[in-house]
Amino acid sequence: MVASPPIKIGFIGCGNIANAHLQAIERIPEIEIVAGADINEDRAREFVQKAGAQAYFTDWRQMLEEVELDAIDQCTPHTLHMEPTLAAAERGIHVFTEKPMATELAECDRMIAACEQAGVVLMVGQVLRFYAPHIEARRIVGSGQLGQVKNVIRRRWSYTKGVSSQPWASDRALAGRWLLYGLGTHAADLILWMTDSEATNVFAMGRQIHPMWDDVDELTIQMELSNGAMALQTHCLNCYASAWDLAVNGTDDSLYVNGETLIVGGEERHVPMQEGGGMYTQMAEFASAVLEGREPEASGKDVRRTYALLEAAKLSMDEGRIVDASQL
Ligand SMILES: NC(=O)c1ccc[n+]([C@@H]2O[C@H](COP(=O)([O-])OP(=O)(O)OC[C@H]3O[C@@H](n4cnc5c(N)ncnc54)[C@H](O)[C@@H]3O)[C@@H](O)[C@H]2O)c1
Repeated sequence: MVASPPIKIGFIGCGNIANAHLQAIERIPEIEIVAGADINEDRAREFVQKAGAQAYFTDWRQMLEEVELDAIDQCTPHTLHMEPTLAAAERGIHVFTEKPMATELAECDRMIAACEQAGVVLMVGQVLRFYAPHIEARRIVGSGQLGQVKNVIRRRWSYTKGVSSQPWASDRALAGRWLLYGLGTHAADLILWMTDSEATNVFAMGRQIHPMWDDVDELTIQMELSNGAMALQTHCLNCYASAWDLAVNGTDDSLYVNGETLIVGGEERHVPMQEGGGMYTQMAEFASAVLEGREPEASGKDVRRTYALLEAAKLSMDEGRIVDASQL
């Protein structure tokens, strides 16, 4: 289904990240925000006012009923993403959903199938794919300059002082599992996208330090990739010295990315973030895909492998065994 500009979009969830989307969309004339829904009425009203729109709702179902939309932009907590996606697809409405696509692989499959059947775009907010330094790193890995990739490490260690960034982050019913699906989704997707591969054998371990989290706050996922490499993603919410970087080691060379710094061939380069940042490029990609009637970068179908990896990690952590993600 191809829409014509401007794409009339309605937000579901008008909190933190919705406002970042709003800023990005302000630079994209092909998208017009026409409505917003949030269970917090004040937030919904303030958000649509900021967007220069008028229609706000406390129930997204009513928004779908009453407003003529081409697309929805879902910015609600993790476990709430499937139902609006199915309802939108049924109405022929395109879907952009923040990560994680869902916290159960079976739900991801239902979302992918519904959007495919309806012929609408389903794109997931794997925003790290749209960061200029990552795009350059992936180009280098894909060019073969590193030789055969053998080993990848992605670290995201930070110190939250036992305070959740969102009120629902420590509520498993809404977050699924915060570390795995809040932060782990970014790392898992970056590893698979960067190496153009899928995960096979996965082994995950988690530990809990801070009692506030209803889940692990230290997590390490070790995996084998379909290209034969091994990879590790490691997360921590209690680290006094933070780290947020990626290293890729190949038979001929190594690559390291940390923010806008990229080291390859032993040389350090500065690769600046593009104007408008990754969020702008991501939302512009969604708009183009909707207008051109094509599959976007980070389509539901493409990122399914990320959610198979996360599901395997969850099973592995809970059952203490290696899980083959390619069989899920
Ligand atoms: N891409 C990124 O880097 C990034 C960064 C932050 C958050 N996110 C993702 O964005 C999503 C939202 O996170 P956030 O930080 O904006 O959270 P938030 O708490 O700031 O916003 C969520 C909003 O959803 C509303 N909400 C809750 N249940 C609802 C419902 N049933 N219907 C309508 N609205 C409802 C809440 O009232 C709140 O305003 C999450 O999936 C999160 O992982 C992505």
